[in-house]
Amino acid sequence: MTAQTMEELVSLCKRRGFLFQSNDIYGGIKGLYDYGPMGVEFKNNLKQAWWKSMVYERDDTEGLDASILSSPVVLKHSGHEDTFTDPLVDCRACKSRWRADQLFENNKCPNCKSEDLTEPRPFNLMFKTAIGPVDDGSSFAYLRPETCQQIFTNFKNILDSTSRTIPFGIAQMGKAFRNEITPRNFIFRVREFEQMELEFFVKPGTDDEWHEYWINKRIEWWVNQGIKKENLKKIEVEKNELAHYSKRTVDINYVFPHGEEELEGVANRTDFDLGSHTKNQYDFKITSEVMKNSSSTTKLAVQDLEEKNWYIPYVIEPSAGVDRGVLALLNEAYREENVDKDNKRILLSLKPHLSPIKAAVIPLKKNNEELVNLSKEIKSNLQKLGLGRVVLENSGNIGKNYRRHDEIGTPICLTVDFETLEDKSVTVRDRDTMKQERVSIENLSEYYKKYFN
Ligand code: GAP
Repeated sequence: MTAQTMEELVSLCKRRGFLFQSNDIYGGIKGLYDYGPMGVEFKNNLKQAWWKSMVYERDDTEGLDASILSSPVVLKHSGHEDTFTDPLVDCRACKSRWRADQLFENNKCPNCKSEDLTEPRPFNLMFKTAIGPVDDGSSFAYLRPETCQQIFTNFKNILDSTSRTIPFGIAQMGKAFRNEITPRNFIFRVREFEQMELEFFVKPGTDDEWHEYWINKRIEWWVNQGIKKENLKKIEVEKNELAHYSKRTVDINYVFPHGEEELEGVANRTDFDLGSHTKNQYDFKITSEVMKNSSSTTKLAVQDLEEKNWYIPYVIEPSAGVDRGVLALLNEAYREENVDKDNKRILLSLKPHLSPIKAAVIPLKKNNEELVNLSKEIKSNLQKLGLGRVVLENSGNIGKNYRRHDEIGTPICLTVDFETLEDKSVTVRDRDTMKQERVSIENLSEYYKKYFN
């Protein structure tokens, strides 16, 4: 079972500290959210799982963490200054603004239903900011609209500083910014978000095969994070809807509470980006037309070791939204169950590696020195195993603690009671089955480690 409505998720996220409207106390800003104590742990765990699978578990990738502020020259050559636009429509009656493709009801304003709308005009989605102390418009930067451009501009640096040869990939996670006209559906479409992007460089001619490889690999990864395969859809993007850089894109859609939409896109960007950032003085056989305008001074190309000719690699790009991943996984893990005929519980049945809290240690009696000290020691020992955050709950209300930890997805709760002082064992309660068993303190580390494997 997933959540029935977006409201159920929004309410849980606020109540339990996953997500808050940003600038809340001053009325908030649309399209911006803050990750609270549970949200930040959950989001970091998701990013860590991606990094592990994209960098640590592979032998053909490197990582990067580049700056967010981007030179306009980079975004000119990438095509973003000219083409990164949405069609914008104004309602003359109520003065609201809409994306033309979101006027669901026969060209009527979704707010006041007026038909008095302007013609669509292009609206660039990039945020600009001044660089340096004088804001005279001559020196500015863009907040990057996608994380990958700095991967392309660092291509030569990474080649020169590692021993990589084609095929290989560069992975990066981090913030991206888009001045969305109509941010909506909670954290699905926001103005500040995070992406997890891999740019995988391949020899032209091998690109179609690598593209299929990455589409399947990425679906497999989302399934491993806990999304049911039947809730993921492979959607071929229509030719007339492809981004300016793409030869072919397959979207991985997820059935969100508001409907089926894109969770991740896997694009074949050809030699568009490396080509457009390469100086137009080299004689390459490239398919994209972009080089003719380039003012770059670099040669983002590699030499074929057998044929000795130089070529610009093609790029396969799996690009996932962290926030959309958070929303999809929260939805997927959401359950409502009857505990008995009078009581219900909500739980997040998250995979343990993603849970914000891995274990809660609960002394049966609040402030009882012996129980609390022993609980602290157990907590500290489990924390040292480095599997994620472990908390001590010194409130004395076991029932309330179980409810709270069910709702934030804590896989196990450990209760330290008076018997513990005698038999040196604790009660371990499993989140999903609610079954309880006694485990000796001596074996707790092994038990805990096995649980997370
Ligand atoms: N570098 C390619 C690229 O940026 P994209 O399809 O525009 O492609 C990739 O974005 C992913 O980033 C999307 O699949 C989505 O998960 C996420 N994303 C894009 N815009 C977003 C927004 N306004 N809010 C939240 N996530 C967004």
